[in-house]
Amino acid sequence: MAETKEETPLTGDFPRDRKTFSPEEEARLERQHFWRIIDAFRYYRRHVQEHVNRAERHFRSLPQRHQNLLPSVLPNLARIRQCADHNHEVLQAIVQHSIHMFENIECGEREDPRKVRSSSTFDMDKLKSTIKQFVRDWSEAGQGERDSCYQPIIREIQRHFPSDQYDVSKVSVLVPGAGLGRLAWEIARLGYICQGNEWSFFMLFSSNFVLNRCEKVNCLTLYPWIHQFSNNKKSSDQTRAIRFPDVNPQSLPQDSDFSMVAGDFLEVYSDADSWDCVATCFFIDTAHNVIQYVETIWKILKPGGVWINLGPLLYHFENMANELSVELSYEDIRAAMVKLGFQIVVENQSLLTTYTENERSMLRYIYDCVFFVARKPEHLYSHCQAEDDQQHSPPAAKSLRQENLECHT
Ligand SMILES: C[S@@+](CC[C@H](N)C(=O)[O-])C[C@H]1O[C@@H](n2cnc3c(N)ncnc32)[C@H](O)[C@@H]1O
Repeated sequence: MAETKEETPLTGDFPRDRKTFSPEEEARLERQHFWRIIDAFRYYRRHVQEHVNRAERHFRSLPQRHQNLLPSVLPNLARIRQCADHNHEVLQAIVQHSIHMFENIECGEREDPRKVRSSSTFDMDKLKSTIKQFVRDWSEAGQGERDSCYQPIIREIQRHFPSDQYDVSKVSVLVPGAGLGRLAWEIARLGYICQGNEWSFFMLFSSNFVLNRCEKVNCLTLYPWIHQFSNNKKSSDQTRAIRFPDVNPQSLPQDSDFSMVAGDFLEVYSDADSWDCVATCFFIDTAHNVIQYVETIWKILKPGGVWINLGPLLYHFENMANELSVELSYEDIRAAMVKLGFQIVVENQSLLTTYTENERSMLRYIYDCVFFVARKPEHLYSHCQAEDDQQHSPPAAKSLRQENLECHT
């Protein structure tokens, strides 16, 4: 079972206010935020129904002779309603298991849980993206996407820390921005110590559910594409199902060391020389200032450790008012990394991938990603190690792990 531990205030689902608050105010804001996301999960059905109502109204406003030419439209809308009801049931199961997730946030139900508060379009979009993330991480339909995004990272971990040269149960891998946790889970499945870090409650509630509450392969169904009304070749494409999880998340080896930690990567991880590997997938562009991520990764990596990155640079804060956003090119980030001391040991500046792709859509995005492995050189930092003359032993065998950060499975 993967426990999720809260490390810092979780403000990942809304623009961050940079003011510092008193601890009481922080706690109050955090509770407020927690309940706002629970409300979003509860509002989902009404939100989709309103969209379908509108579609139905518009269709019924057409001349009858046009409606007569389109006999399958209303049955399809009815089917979308059913699918939304079904999604809603899954989302309520997620909520049910989330209410007690964080000791320091839970404060009991505020009032009658059946009372549904309306949510913003921003939160509804986040929730719909989270539903699509189930396809990417935990369905058979997401296998191709996982092969193109996660496998290059996993292969490099295995190449840098091969099991015939390392005791992989002592090699620690951190996955910041872990989403629904599949990459981190796969790394743990190979025997490495792996910790996912995530700050969005949407993702944390959902990963907690899939990792800790789902045991049977393909036991649950979602309809991830019902929110897409445009670019459908067939009406049935919109209402097709995916099943999850495609593997039993509980099937990690008994002695595996897998955890998820909640909180802002920049706030949670500050201990120097702690990790053998940091693996970032579609993550670095979530920064206000990507150089802060680079610096933090540099600091927390052990000497000799590696940073493996795959992803685009679709800066998340680019279009957000009142939010710091520094949109650097890969060329600039790379130059800064090298100046800091990173050695780029593997680089592919054109790796084509998708992200939560609807493969039957008439509009499909392809990311031309950057993939690299950057090493924090051993010699710059390892004065004690040099004295010990242990140049040939693996970094994992030399450094102590930060036990206090761990939250065991
Ligand atoms: C584009 S998603 C990628 C998720 C996953 N790595 C994948 O490839 O499917 C980026 C993730 O990073 C998370 N995130 C963004 N900023 C973060 C931060 N400062 N600390 C931790 N997680 C963060 C977001 O909530 C989101 O789940």
